[in-house]
Amino acid sequence: MKSFSSEELDTESAESLGPHFCWGVATAAFQIEGAAREDGRGESIWDRFSHTPGKTRNGDTGDVACDHYHRMPQDVGLMAELGVDAYRFSFAWPRIQPLGSGAWNAKGVDFYDRLLDELDKRGLQAHATLYHWDLPQALQDAGGWGHRDTAMRFADYAAFVGQRWGQRLRSLATHNEPWCTAHLGHAIGKFAPGLSDEHLARQVAHHLLLSHGLALQRLRAEGVGCPLGIVLNMSSATPATPMPEDLALARREYGHLVRWYLEPLLLGRYPQEPGLPAPPLIEPGDMACIRAPLDFLGVNYYTRIWASHNGTPPPARLGVSDMGWETHPDGLRELLLNLHREYPLPPLYITENGMACADRLENGQVHDPQRIDYVRRHLQALAQAKREGLDIRGYFYWSLMDNFEWDSGYAKRFGLVHVDYETQQRTLKSSAHWYASNARRQRRLTQPTTATEVTHG
Ligand code: GCO
Repeated sequence: MKSFSSEELDTESAESLGPHFCWGVATAAFQIEGAAREDGRGESIWDRFSHTPGKTRNGDTGDVACDHYHRMPQDVGLMAELGVDAYRFSFAWPRIQPLGSGAWNAKGVDFYDRLLDELDKRGLQAHATLYHWDLPQALQDAGGWGHRDTAMRFADYAAFVGQRWGQRLRSLATHNEPWCTAHLGHAIGKFAPGLSDEHLARQVAHHLLLSHGLALQRLRAEGVGCPLGIVLNMSSATPATPMPEDLALARREYGHLVRWYLEPLLLGRYPQEPGLPAPPLIEPGDMACIRAPLDFLGVNYYTRIWASHNGTPPPARLGVSDMGWETHPDGLRELLLNLHREYPLPPLYITENGMACADRLENGQVHDPQRIDYVRRHLQALAQAKREGLDIRGYFYWSLMDNFEWDSGYAKRFGLVHVDYETQQRTLKSSAHWYASNARRQRRLTQPTTATEVTHG
């Protein structure tokens, strides 16, 4: 059994993160809100998928989830207790526009008005995402992301959000992890809408990217002033051995996951090389639209890609999470440095990083030193990347609280805050206390003292 240390973030790392480093926590609408049929919310593809027998662990659904829709002020209170600077959340498209086109839903809009009010009241920055996988089912019925028209509908939805809330957001991301939507949702059927068609998945990826570009155009035309970007899930790729098979596999997997999305966004073209698929159907003007400048790029990093053609497992020197994912913080540094070398990058946020643990509530407490160890090591990796010249603005732990982990249902716990799904009771884990006190300490070490602030008036 490994032992994990709960020691604090070392001073050098804390200082390297700098005085403006943003400490945040993240969630997504479908994973926490619940209230799936309330106040006019439309059905989403995740409602349909999770209600289809055999698709999620135990048949778990998002019907209630963390009941955040009803407990939102209390949950924002938890963030205040954690003392974080920022909250990353997603708007539920089917709550705002139940059918994905046509009428807007006043009660759904009101919920996000109230959320932003509550965040304001607590002095928390709002970092929003437009699409964290909950496509209105009505749009799926009309062809979903495989249908080019869905990109136009998304741009309309983006424009609505921009008009309504643009001035109140600290950043707005179009998509969260388009690779998951395209690949997990359309190539292997593990996620909603549960389709298994490689060819379709390529076209879906293109339409997602196109919808991103169209949304940026509309948001900028509306004069939305907050930084606009996108969130990608990325990993470094390590060949298990220097054998040509492993080298080629590492390159291919990295190409699928990272380059297939980043190169259209930053360079205006799909990577073309042996091992990568043929490009999708592209209409004139698409690539220029997709390549619209990004104000920021969100990076979600959990583990590295371990490329072994014969199934040799990774050394997992620092252990594996409850998801079975190897803890490999240096992969984050390696990924960021590679990106920095190869692309003209906008400022970065780590929009997700976190660990699922088999947490147990005992005597009113949850002791999770492995999670503390995980977070500390990833922050150290970030600090090192910053010292090596990367522009990293902040870190959002995934997740504020335990929630609906997609096809794994409620079995996997990523939260800093424990949720008892029987009672909806929230309990801060020891990692939550660690996060709060390390954020505080990092600010104390790097920010000008109150006395200096006073002299500056
Ligand atoms: C994501 C996911 C989150 C997951 C987390 C853990 O953006 O990957 O959006 O929703 O819960 O990554 O798997």
